[in-house]
Amino acid sequence: MTDTDEPLAYPFDGTSGLALDPRYRELRSKPGLVRVQPPYGSWAWLATRHEDVTAVLESRAFSRARAAGPDEPRVTAAPLVAGSLLSLDPPEHTPLRRAMSGWFSHKRVQVLRPGITETVDSLLDAMAAQGPPSDLMADLARPLSLSVICDVLGVPETDRPRFHEWGGTRREAMWTLSPAGLAAAGQRLQEYLTELVALRRSAPGEDLISGLLHPQHRLTEREVATLAGVILAGGYEITANRLGSFVYALLTHPGLYRRLHEEPAIVPRAVEELLRYTTLGARVRAEVAIEDVEVGGTLVRAGEAVLPARCSANRDESAFAAPDRLDLDRTPVDHVAFGRGVHYCTGAALSRLELQIGLGALVQRFPSLRLAVPAGEIGWGSAALWAPEALPVTW
Ligand code: HEM
Repeated sequence: MTDTDEPLAYPFDGTSGLALDPRYRELRSKPGLVRVQPPYGSWAWLATRHEDVTAVLESRAFSRARAAGPDEPRVTAAPLVAGSLLSLDPPEHTPLRRAMSGWFSHKRVQVLRPGITETVDSLLDAMAAQGPPSDLMADLARPLSLSVICDVLGVPETDRPRFHEWGGTRREAMWTLSPAGLAAAGQRLQEYLTELVALRRSAPGEDLISGLLHPQHRLTEREVATLAGVILAGGYEITANRLGSFVYALLTHPGLYRRLHEEPAIVPRAVEELLRYTTLGARVRAEVAIEDVEVGGTLVRAGEAVLPARCSANRDESAFAAPDRLDLDRTPVDHVAFGRGVHYCTGAALSRLELQIGLGALVQRFPSLRLAVPAGEIGWGSAALWAPEALPVTW
């Protein structure tokens, strides 16, 4: 395709269950990038190959800051907010990342292991006590990830019910992608986080917010509250969606769920493959070229935007043998589920730990778990946020 062709409407709407829209495969097999028109903002180039997606995310010839604003090509209504972690380039981005890095290192998150294990065990106890059927999203995935984020941020126990409620409202607004709903839910949460930051300023604890307020980071209360909001947004829904999608994937591939029960040692490797396989959403941030740059054989001119489709990169046949097969023996799994480059997911080590503990405990505790409805009846979210809305299971 040349840059004079009409842009394709994006996101593609042919994704179904765990099958990615076939247009991605078709586009990967053709040279160059393709022009697409998302529902919001201007047109963009779409990168679909693993090599091109990683090149864009790792290149200093692209800027996130230039993408912030109403013209940002995007698949959800809310544009990137200028000045937030996700919309900063180095060097402005660097001190914010540095302030958080110690908190989310592989070593540091291991401290959270006993607490996460306890939370998982009590959620599984409640599931067992209540008896089948159960909605795995509502009974395990969402309360687990929200509780972990509350622990990290230091949300006091007494505030957690409110926090859960706002998290739920925000989640519903994300599913319906209602801009007004999202803004209202986001504002209430942000007001609460602002109060929490002020509280931690006067009475510091062992939590991330207190850590970020340390004078060495030179962050204002407002900056800390905004960072906490980004962490919440990243940590809650995305991790919950992954856990639900993982269980769906395992239960719809005969023998795989049972295999994890019999071989618990492969859970960490399986989590990597599941991250690759189930990352099907088209919610990506645009990268704007700050100079003319060639990507995958296409000249992207300064000022033009590229959408790096991680979902397609994770299913690229030139990066993964038989990419549409869920293969728990695949190793290493060079997936891009956590992004790449300067905006690589801060919470990667934490979510890996959470997913490994959650999945590992579930397969041990409920070895006979199965879907309570035919797979075709499971409702999936929008093309932007691709995950089961509810996951009815029985045992
Ligand atoms: C399986 C779960 C998760 C997945 C798949 C995931 C994925 C991602 C991806 C793809 C990005 C890059 C976004 C971009 O380039 O625009 C990102 C960034 C981010 N994630 Fe995650 N994430 C997960 C869990 C978490 C958790 C648990 C936290 C917090 C504790 C978190 C916090 C963040 C933050 C703060 C950023 C922004 C980093 C930056 O801009 O420098 N994420 N995540």
